[in-house]
Amino acid sequence: MSSKQIQIFDTTLRDGEQVPGCKLDSNQKVIIAKQLDITGVDVIEAGFPVSSPGDFKSVEAISKIVKNATVCGLTRAVENDIKVAAEALKHAKRPRIHTGIGTSDSHIKFKFNSDKESIIKRAFDAVNYAKKFVEDVEFYAEDAGRTDNDYLARVCESAIKAGATVLNIPDTTGYCLPNEYGAKIKYLMDNVKGIDNVVVSCHCHNDLGLATANSIAGVLNGAKQIECTINGIGERAGNTALEEVVMVLKQHSNLNLDTNIDTTKLYGLSQLVSDNMGIYTQPNKAIVGANAFAHSSGIHQDGVIKNRETYEIINPKDVGVTESAIVLTARSGRAALAYRAKNVGYELTKLQLDEIYANFLVFADRKKEINDNDIHQIIETSNIYQQIISA
Ligand code: KIV
Ligand code: ZN
Repeated sequence: MSSKQIQIFDTTLRDGEQVPGCKLDSNQKVIIAKQLDITGVDVIEAGFPVSSPGDFKSVEAISKIVKNATVCGLTRAVENDIKVAAEALKHAKRPRIHTGIGTSDSHIKFKFNSDKESIIKRAFDAVNYAKKFVEDVEFYAEDAGRTDNDYLARVCESAIKAGATVLNIPDTTGYCLPNEYGAKIKYLMDNVKGIDNVVVSCHCHNDLGLATANSIAGVLNGAKQIECTINGIGERAGNTALEEVVMVLKQHSNLNLDTNIDTTKLYGLSQLVSDNMGIYTQPNKAIVGANAFAHSSGIHQDGVIKNRETYEIINPKDVGVTESAIVLTARSGRAALAYRAKNVGYELTKLQLDEIYANFLVFADRKKEINDNDIHQIIETSNIYQQIISA
């Protein structure tokens, strides 16, 4: 069975940059955009051009340097936003305008003080206006996750009639369960006229920790694009993490869903974003966290030393991490100590290991983690080592 290609739409520089306390200047955004392009991202959402002169400048600068990816600018369903985005994107080889409006009852009532029919008209008008500037127009139905499916289908149909090439179905508040989000995409695939001619996109937030699961449910039900950010950064609890969805699809090759991403660049990209944004990545973060390939309990270490696959489902090299780490703590066993000792130059016999291990445990109970210098000290101050060198 031939594989289906899933488009990766990166919004680190737009939704990701909405993280409180984080600000990237134009040069930093260009550096990150270049790396996203090299990594094989299909679409880079470079910013929200009307929001500030700085964001306009960044979108313009990114449009000039990106070689392969589509460059996208966000707008509200407002003519001036769209005109300004088109201006910022005019140097892009492949420009896309991303326009849309809130469609849930709460957005219609409280944000817009409007009604369902007027929102459908605004959706149509925004896409129709954006088409005057670019061929590629993505429409988002904000808070689609909490929008009634029948109404959402009508909004989507209207956006398609106006010329939308991509339909974005955001779970803006991260509320949906994976089966609900998947069913929503399926409902749209089955009920929206013309939907087979457009790309349906998943845009999931992580308020309940379900963003990755929801995005995967989306593509399993017919969506062809996933919107995501590096390290899952974004508003509140963040967005779907790019590295997670890409690796889910890679590791589960039986799904026959591929991406264009060069996964060996993922770790470097994660570090680049974290360093530039000044946002530290949690150590247990899937794929790119400092502990993602670190083993510290004796049972796991023994397994990994015998064969990495006993406790690792991903080869660290596949995501740009040089090797798995055997971390020495008071929970580590003899196999781990012997392995680390060998790495720093000591080939220990069973007898030597027994004595040194006992000293190691005393040391490790006082210290969280044992580093290479500690290993030298533990071994060289042990009686058995003194006997070896004086023999
Ligand atoms: O979460 C959301 O709904 C968004 C849209 C503006 C696309 O970020
Ligand atoms: Zn969002």
